Amino acid sequence: MDHFLYQQDELYAEQCTVASLAETYGTPLYVYSRATLERHWHAFDNAVADHPHMICYAVKANSNLAVLNVLARLGSGFDIVSGGELARVLEAGGEASKVVFSGVGKTVAEMEMALEAGIYCFNVESAAELEQLNLVALRLGKVAPVSLRVNPDVDAGTHPYISTGLKENKFGIAMEEAEAIFLRANELPGLAVKGADCHIGSQLTELQPFLDAMDRMLALIDRLAEQGVKIAHLDVGGGLGVTYDGEQPPEPSAYASALLGKLAGRDLKLIFEPGRAIAANAGIFVTQVLYLKENAEKNFALVDGAMNDLIRPSLYSAWQKIIPVVPRPGETRQYDVVGPVCETGDFLGKDRALNIRANDLLAVRSSGAYGFTMASNYNSRPRAAEVMVDGERHYLVREREKVAQLWQGEQLLP
Ligand code: LLP
Repeated sequence: MDHFLYQQDELYAEQCTVASLAETYGTPLYVYSRATLERHWHAFDNAVADHPHMICYAVKANSNLAVLNVLARLGSGFDIVSGGELARVLEAGGEASKVVFSGVGKTVAEMEMALEAGIYCFNVESAAELEQLNLVALRLGKVAPVSLRVNPDVDAGTHPYISTGLKENKFGIAMEEAEAIFLRANELPGLAVKGADCHIGSQLTELQPFLDAMDRMLALIDRLAEQGVKIAHLDVGGGLGVTYDGEQPPEPSAYASALLGKLAGRDLKLIFEPGRAIAANAGIFVTQVLYLKENAEKNFALVDGAMNDLIRPSLYSAWQKIIPVVPRPGETRQYDVVGPVCETGDFLGKDRALNIRANDLLAVRSSGAYGFTMASNYNSRPRAAEVMVDGERHYLVREREKVAQLWQGEQLLP
């Protein structure tokens, strides 16, 4: 459930009309709902309330400071993948002691920054990274808390670009090598082994791959215990899917209770790294129709938002619902909703039944995750503004980029 609903024949974001937000802030525009973000975060937190746990929101999904701050106020932890994301979390009032640091290519500078900040755990993805982290920690006179990201080799059954738990992917440490690397980590004086983690992919709509991964991780944890390596937490990553187009992913409560069923009798803290499940349906992308155009084959709605603003449709052929902000009664026609960028792949949606005219507003739903964070300045397009609604109030949480900002830091030759 989210808070973008029609009332009196027009689309609302909580108690604000989307049309008035577009009027106030212009388009293209990202609109986030605080109540929806909070609701989704609580759905995870409540689902594991009786078990030691941490919900570490995956910052990459939506890293706007206001979004991070809303979650930090609930007591959320954060899953980061760069020094930049750590800096954002701290700037937004998040606690370093609730941060897990994922990612295959952490630099020495990022390791130093995270050690100085005092993060909860490094999710280490290779033997080479482990050795590097040990050296950095020793040099700083610190002990780095570590988990090893293990690749459980399960097929998440999702899009190949966002499936990460198969042997052919660059992520994690192969299950066969994991034991030896855990034993090595246990010996290194700059490291303290805390946990084991995995992340098998994103937008999963079935429980089974998660359960298979869990079984493999628990078997590994048992083998490690026999060899004297104590694992205090299991981080199951993110990946729970959302409804874009009628998918019926499990609710966080069903997901969590299935996992908890396997943890009975174990002294193992559970960590989740949800990104999409918290943020996707807490945001919409609002764009205005510039022109309608037709040729022998197609009707096109040319809108002011484009692939540089929201790349998921172009990059993954992702389908996101496109709805009118103020629906018109009467017949619809099929439109490809396309942006001004000079690429055939620049579309937000294809073959959508709409009854629209120039200047109408459209909302692309489910845009709160991997929307703005994946935006670029391609075609020298300033990035969109971002707004957060909270009941009947609304706040500009990122101003629209100005054209002059596009070449900040660039220089002419002398
Ligand atoms: N943890 C790790 C280690 C991850 O790599 C990811 C996502 C997450 C957590 C959060 O996963 P989520 O709960 O959001 O599924 N840009 C793509 C999605 C890329 C996901 C990358 N990793 C998209 O727009 O579909």
